[in-house]
Amino acid sequence: MGRIAYVNGRFVQHGEAVVHIEDRGYQLGDAVYEVWALFEGKLADPEGHFARLERSLGELSIAMPMSRAALTMVLKEAVRRNRVREGLLYLQVSRGVAKRDHAFPNPPVRPSVIMTVSSVNRAADEARAARGVAVVTTPENRWGRCDIKTVGLLPNALAKQKARAVGAVEAWFVDQLGFVTEGASSNAWIVDREGRLRTRDTNANILRGVTRNSLLEVIRREGMQVDERPFTPAEAVEASEAFITGAGSLVLPVIAVDGKPVGDGKPGPVAARLRSLYIKQAKATAV
Ligand code: PDD
Repeated sequence: MGRIAYVNGRFVQHGEAVVHIEDRGYQLGDAVYEVWALFEGKLADPEGHFARLERSLGELSIAMPMSRAALTMVLKEAVRRNRVREGLLYLQVSRGVAKRDHAFPNPPVRPSVIMTVSSVNRAADEARAARGVAVVTTPENRWGRCDIKTVGLLPNALAKQKARAVGAVEAWFVDQLGFVTEGASSNAWIVDREGRLRTRDTNANILRGVTRNSLLEVIRREGMQVDERPFTPAEAVEASEAFITGAGSLVLPVIAVDGKPVGDGKPGPVAARLRSLYIKQAKATAV
């Protein structure tokens, strides 16, 4: 059985799943998305992703295409039809199909909804987490609304490619003051020499990562200290550990920044512990 995608109310073979050429997501990047990690066939951090989806849509005045309950049912059906246990679920909602015009169609058109499901190899991911990954830095060049999870990801794609070209896994954007904002598809963290965790506050122009938020709950429950303030790449290199968070990376140790080792250049105990605590919590709360 091949992969199955969802397009505007229908489940179709992945290879035959198409949207209209005048879909505003395709022509104008006028669309938002969410990515859920799947554990044991269930959606991780459901509440955080739904809340952010509703917020992203609201910021762009796109209607929620269906109720949360209905959307949950369709998302779960997409997972079931793909028989994926460990993987990722992608949902995209665009403003819909309309004759090309920068301004919104009036009256509004029906939003387009698509979903895809892919599997991940958790054993390979755990091995990668045990080795740690490298990141590179790149100047922040994105728009001023990175809090909205839009498909306008060209700067992120270029940054990720810059990382990939040198064998790194992520690119960290660095703002004009020299502080890391976030990764191309993840949030950035360090553990300083005193053992304090640090990650940038969400008043900055960054995505309010759902994994970041769930991990903050874990951290507070564990009674660990966390400072929500920015750090520079130099501070990351001087830190004892660094890591990234996201639906794809979960909690992933960073062992080098621009070729310079972080701490002793090996994944540290804090990130390893937080990874396993996060996964435990995500599994327990998945729907
Ligand atoms: N990316 N920052 C950016 C720019 C992101 O694109 C993402 C997620 C995150 C982490 O957010 P979360 O913890 O909610 O996944 C931070 C997804 C996974 C993606 O684009 O594939």
